[in-house]
Amino acid sequence: TGLVVAMDGPSGSGKSSVSRGAARALGLRYLDTGAMYRAMTWWMLQQGVDLADPAAVAARCGEPAIVSGTDPDGPAIHVDGVDVAEPIRRAEVTGAVSAVAAVPEVRARLVALQREIIGAGDIVVEGRDIGSVVWPRAAVKIYLTASAQARARRRSAEVAGSTVEAQQEAMARRDTLDSTRKTDPLSMAAGAIELDTTALTLDEVVAEVLRLVKE
Ligand code: ADP
Ligand code: CDP
Repeated sequence: TGLVVAMDGPSGSGKSSVSRGAARALGLRYLDTGAMYRAMTWWMLQQGVDLADPAAVAARCGEPAIVSGTDPDGPAIHVDGVDVAEPIRRAEVTGAVSAVAAVPEVRARLVALQREIIGAGDIVVEGRDIGSVVWPRAAVKIYLTASAQARARRRSAEVAGSTVEAQQEAMARRDTLDSTRKTDPLSMAAGAIELDTTALTLDEVVAEVLRLVKE
């Protein structure tokens, strides 16, 4: 199989920006697995599924057709033919996605889809469990981190009308859910290289990733 770069880390560490920048520079495809969990969550909300009931989520998670694009310049995501790139970023989805992503049946389904896409060849893949679970044989595994404050500052700069404090609180809640769930929690994979981006610019982080890939 081709060159697979696994990019994991908590929310706001820079996974999307860094993965897209690196994929563009290297001429690789790009997969945002977080967008797939968001798309599943968007569909569940749309259907009125009770997200506090894991059995209800498990029972319905095979229904939506989730299709991910792999172009780093314009990552597309469709659910049953509907473009959901915009609605999956809404606060309603962000607040609910960790509960949906904790359901083992949801993960089994999305991980299978992810492996199909990755298996087709050269790609940068971002998520929480790419180096540990989805593709442990990735040639390069990177674990991005940044201080909780830096991550919250970055996210609040992107989201209109949000304070750093509110972002930090929401992120801390999601990080806790993501790293304490029973199935495939966020954790640093064996063989991963940790990259702390707190004091770096985006360009510096991308340059470091390119260096690690070319090594
Ligand atoms: P994640 O996918 O991990 O949630 P994103 O890439 O979506 O992270 O968000 C990171 C945000 O922080 C982007 O707006 C990016 O431009 C900004 N940013 C600022 N400095 C850095 C850095 N050193 N590394 C990565 N992103 C940075
Ligand atoms: O962009 P941000 O880091 O805020 O989140 P995301 O990458 O879009 O991921 C959204 C959510 O999906 C995470 O908080 C996790 O609950 C879940 N997720 C996951 O469980 N496994 C992955 N490989 C990717 C995302």
